[in-house]
Order: sequence, then structure tokens, then C-alpha cells
Amino acid sequence: MIRIAPSILAADFGHLARDIAVADSGGADLMHCDVMDGAFVPAISYGHDITAAVGRNTSVPLDVHLMTINPSAQVDLFAPIKPAVITFHLEAVDDPRPLIRKISEFGILAGLSVKPGTPVEPLLELLPDLGLVLVMTVEPGAGGQSFMEDMMTKVQTLAAAIRAGGHDIMLQVDGGISAATIAIAAAAGSDTFVAGTAVFRHPEGVPHAISELRDLATAAQ
Ligand code: DX5
Ligand code: ZN
Repeated sequence: MIRIAPSILAADFGHLARDIAVADSGGADLMHCDVMDGAFVPAISYGHDITAAVGRNTSVPLDVHLMTINPSAQVDLFAPIKPAVITFHLEAVDDPRPLIRKISEFGILAGLSVKPGTPVEPLLELLPDLGLVLVMTVEPGAGGQSFMEDMMTKVQTLAAAIRAGGHDIMLQVDGGISAATIAIAAAAGSDTFVAGTAVFRHPEGVPHAISELRDLATAAQ
């Protein structure tokens, strides 16, 4: 199954409800919400209040991507919004297990992400407890960057482990996903694709962008 997750970061924040509605009716499978705290990454994006506003304007499940240094405190703020997934970064914690447990106890799928410089091997033994793994295909912190194709070895490693273990888990890529790159990530084994610029800035509109991405990923999978 292919899932397209438009990143709200590339929406027009002055017309957020309008852009969410277009992504919703255009076939988005998840609404990807990028939370940046100015510490884990240099930029500050938005937090739980704006994310709650996103949730009030769509029936598409929310996919929260925490790029923050204290993800546990953020989970307390985000849990009442009832996102489908909360993903945090391996680099932000000493031990990911307690936070995976905490997110799961809220009835939310726990996601774990690695930056480009971090290997995926530590994730392998955690797969039974995760609902999503995220391989960053850019350095986290901003939209509009170039896809890092050399991350595909990590995707292949995770895809093989997920298959071997029979885990029910989304394998997500995030950063630089577009019509030019999505097939590469799908062929490597990802099934869940975050796209900001390629969805919200597509000259032919958001619904066209989402269905084009879905078709390309399906053909390549
Ligand atoms: C980057 C964010 C991404 C970003 C993707 O730190 O995690 O979700 O919005 O943007 P594009 O698709 O433009 O690379
Ligand atoms: Zn993201």
C-alpha cells in the first residue's frame, strides 16, 4: 500500500485551512506536521496549537514529526490532538524505548526517525514496538532540499527486516520527494512518502501532484 503524506510546512500558512482542504479532497493519506523547536534544528516551525487547527480542518489522520530536543514533553502536548502517528528522532533521546511505550499507551502509533548521518541498525530490534520508521532523505530542518539517494541503503535494510519479521509498520521517507525521486524510494522499499514542495507548489495543483506521486510509487514498488 502506498501512502502520500503532504507536509503542511510547504502550505501557505496564511491560507492553511484552504490548503488542508485541497490536500484532503485531493487524496492525502496522512497530513504530515513538521514540528521544529529551534534547538534540535535551527528553525522554529509550529507546535501543538497549529497542529490541532490542522486536525480540526481535516478527517485525514495526522502524522506528527517531532524535530525537538525534548520529545517526551511534546508528546504530552500532542497526545490530546489524537494524531495517528507521533514520530521522534533517535538522536534526541538516550533510550527510545520509554517514549515508544508512552506514545503507544496513548493509543498512538510510535514512529522513530534517523537523520542522514545516523545508521538504522539501532532501529531493527525496535521494529516490533513501532508503527512507523522514518528515514530522512534530507538533513531535517527545512523543506525544498535535494533528495539524498544514498539513504536508500537504509531503506533497503529496513524493508528487508520488516519483511523478514512480518511487522505491520510504515516505512516512511521524508525530504526531496518529488515526481523525479519517488520511484527511487519506492523501489528501495518505502511505502509512505512525505512531500511538501512537490505537493503544495505543484504548478498543476495539489490533487494532480498527489495522484501523480501515487501512480509513480505504485509503478515502482
Ligand atoms: C524537513 C521536513 C520535511 C519537509 C519536506 O525537515 O521533515 O517534512 O517538509 O519538504 P520537501 O518535500 O519540500 O523536501
Ligand atoms: Zn517531516
